[in-house]
Amino acid sequence: MKNKDYLMPDLKLEKKRSLKKDNATNYRDFQMSLEANRLGQDKKYFVKTYGCQANVRDGESLSGMLEMMGFTYAEVPEKANVILFNTCAIRRAAEEKVIAEIGNLKYLKREKPDTIFALCGCMAQEKDVVEELLQKHPQIDLIFGTHNLYRFPSLLQEVMLKKIQKVEVYSQEGEVVEALPVKRSMSAKGFVNIMYGCDKFCTYCIVPYTRGKERSRRMKDILDEVLDLKQSGRKEVVLLGQNVNAYGKDLHMEDGFTDLLRAVSDTGIERIRFYTSHPRDYHSSLIDLMAERKNIMPFLHFPVQSGSNDVLRRMARGYTVEHYISLYNEMIQKVPNITFTTDIIVGFPGESEADFEKTMSLVEHCQYDMAYTFLYSARLGTPAASMPDFISKEVKKERLQRLNQRLRDIAAEKNKTYLHKVVKVLCEGASKKNNEMYAGYTEDNKLVNFSCSWNCLDEIVDVEITETHSYTLNGRVLEK
Ligand code: SAH
Ligand code: SF4
Ligand code: F3S
Repeated sequence: MKNKDYLMPDLKLEKKRSLKKDNATNYRDFQMSLEANRLGQDKKYFVKTYGCQANVRDGESLSGMLEMMGFTYAEVPEKANVILFNTCAIRRAAEEKVIAEIGNLKYLKREKPDTIFALCGCMAQEKDVVEELLQKHPQIDLIFGTHNLYRFPSLLQEVMLKKIQKVEVYSQEGEVVEALPVKRSMSAKGFVNIMYGCDKFCTYCIVPYTRGKERSRRMKDILDEVLDLKQSGRKEVVLLGQNVNAYGKDLHMEDGFTDLLRAVSDTGIERIRFYTSHPRDYHSSLIDLMAERKNIMPFLHFPVQSGSNDVLRRMARGYTVEHYISLYNEMIQKVPNITFTTDIIVGFPGESEADFEKTMSLVEHCQYDMAYTFLYSARLGTPAASMPDFISKEVKKERLQRLNQRLRDIAAEKNKTYLHKVVKVLCEGASKKNNEMYAGYTEDNKLVNFSCSWNCLDEIVDVEITETHSYTLNGRVLEK
């Protein structure tokens, strides 16, 4: 048995938000110790990332740190000396996937006992899950959390040299660490965090506990990253935060997100998108800016969660259906050809048939281009987990199916209007369906699989749509 060194997560501390006005976020730069520099000589790494785009961006920094330590990238876990699971805790199903995957790879540890298994991300911030992981998979060498990503090189060094099992998870409100190395996963576009954490505490959601308080990056740091991406030839930036509309509140900016977005638009980068825009904290100025700037894409991911005011109130979302629709209507009016996607939770505790029908009506009104729909999943420690829930799993699943069917029909109808149109697509790489074709997104965020007679990777090309499906379009590039 290995020696153990544990600092476990603590839900009570994770929940804490300091009310003190002078509780300013601590900003500092990443530095790596010289010893860690040589740790990866002649060794390979494999990082598997789950969850949201913010986690994908974390994965890019984790890969960046590993390469700074001298590790090289392995295409498959079987060839790696360090295997890192960068996890998501949003629903139980997401966690179960990770737990199963670690189990599937257990044999690697038997074959090569020096292989390091490490785990980080949102699952690491949950005490019960860390305990479950340690019990089911004692072969895990290192667990660290979302607040001490920057400690990864030092932690890995300790685990490799001292041969101990280490858990180091901070449960603080969080700080902002800049200048982390990054290995970008895409050459066409780049993800840029604009803020971390979440203070909304929607009653079903684990994120405010796993990611800490809302804290904005400084505008200059964000703009430097955008300019870097532009100089590297990337055509698109995706600005990320759990609730981007709250950007700058903690920096005492009045209209922070609109100001930031205007500055990002001024850099001249060709395409800008942002996730996630919460209906709370909305400023009309944002809609006006979207209407005015050509490089801000006419697309909005606008999560509604439910079409029933009663359910929204119990979710503590902080808006009504009427408010949501008024924002939606204003955007449709002001931003030409804007498209919308959303998130919907089905089967929230106490959701009646009438509540669900209200969600169906809202979907009818908003005619979403796509929606991410989820069965409610109880998260330990969140208020909704202790709300009475009498609806059977069968009823919930039937509702989800009904909703998905309607969403698919709406999306298919909307996509039909693209037939024979010519759209601008940023080519991101080979199509997942057919590797002789390319794939990319239109300005209004439609996924297009298309053929092209030259290698158009990272280019924005004119594609004529030849076939439409519910959630994708097919086409061919017009010859130059
Ligand atoms: N910050 C974003 C959402 C991030 S989580 C926002 O507020 O819009 C992404 C989506 O996961 C949520 O919009 C919600 O639809 C879903 N989700 C979050 N917690 C969930 C839970 N406990 N069960 C089911 N779905 C959940
Ligand atoms: Fe979760 Fe709500 Fe925060 Fe989104 S806004 S991350 S749903 S608590
Ligand atoms: Fe998942 Fe954490 Fe993102 S729970 S969705 S990885 S913030």
